[in-house]
Amino acid sequence: MDIETLQTELMAAIESADTLEALEAVRVSALGKQGSVSALLKTMGGMSPEERQTQGPIINGLRESITSALTAKKADLETAELNRRLATERVDMTLPAPDAPRGTIHPVSQVMDELAEIFADMGFAVAEGPEIEDDWHNFTALNIPETHPARAMHDTFYFPDDMARDGQKMVLRTHTSPVQIRTMTSQEPPIRIIAPGRVYRSDSDATHTPMFHQIEGLVIDKGIHLGHLKWTLETFLKAYFEREDVVLRLRPSYFPFTEPSVEVDVGYSVINGKRVIGGSEGWMEVLGSGMVHRKVIEACGLDPDVWQGFAFGTGVDRLAMLKYGMDDLRAFFDGDNRWLQHYGFNALDVPTLSGGVGA
Ligand code: PHE
Repeated sequence: MDIETLQTELMAAIESADTLEALEAVRVSALGKQGSVSALLKTMGGMSPEERQTQGPIINGLRESITSALTAKKADLETAELNRRLATERVDMTLPAPDAPRGTIHPVSQVMDELAEIFADMGFAVAEGPEIEDDWHNFTALNIPETHPARAMHDTFYFPDDMARDGQKMVLRTHTSPVQIRTMTSQEPPIRIIAPGRVYRSDSDATHTPMFHQIEGLVIDKGIHLGHLKWTLETFLKAYFEREDVVLRLRPSYFPFTEPSVEVDVGYSVINGKRVIGGSEGWMEVLGSGMVHRKVIEACGLDPDVWQGFAFGTGVDRLAMLKYGMDDLRAFFDGDNRWLQHYGFNALDVPTLSGGVGA
């Protein structure tokens, strides 16, 4: 076959190749080891110098034109392939983002954050203590001796005797009050702390769960009196319920670790058959509090004639129920995703006083 015919045939084959694979087959048939153009190139070795002078440029010219035709066709096929993909593989940027599972902040966590924010604004730090507590911190130092009836009242979970530490029986703390003791024995007054955390009592019904949450408050300084306590609680409850018409009622009460002791009620109004905090149509108990007992201050190694203070404790879960309207405490701990989606908070709703603590 003469060179011209070969060129015409190869050019036609290149032109009609409609896939990259077909084009590659043409390339191999021409320029591959056994290819027709390669075979021609090999014949140049056996040519006389004169023959090579005339045939060389023709054969090389054939190789060049076939090579550039292959390159051009390859680019065409690649562009066509890209255009085909662009036309078919379409992403519609106007579609909404697909649903991704999203968790929520548990109301207990949210309320604890709200309380920390409110009390930080009044100069309170956050303190912590262990949930597995010894008898002395949970009871004795709080003026609840072994024989005291308050021990029975607390429905305590005791650890077995062989788990005693330093001769102290261990318990799951029944309240956050032992954090008062831990704070007074580890830092110098003046003290202003809140201590939120888990507490445990062997009790279970619609309004009691064996584990629940309390928040403790403690102020120790010179010349502290009941007026400071009342102002602090009133300021706190108004900020927490985000209403100016929150009314407090202080009732005489009894706790072994405070003297005098006061129980604090908040007034509510009935609107459409529902109780709403504010006003004074009825009263709900929300807090236990009082002036820290001399014996407690003494047990912590402080002089009660120099240092006085007040303490309060309340249920965080109950505060959450009153503000956000849940009616069964047990649901707090069921882990039911529908409840969590309904009552939970967006992780970006970080409580701030300026934004309204409830966000
Ligand atoms: N610890 C008490 C309770 O659990 C609440 C309380 C705390 C009362 C501090 C007075 C002072 O009921």
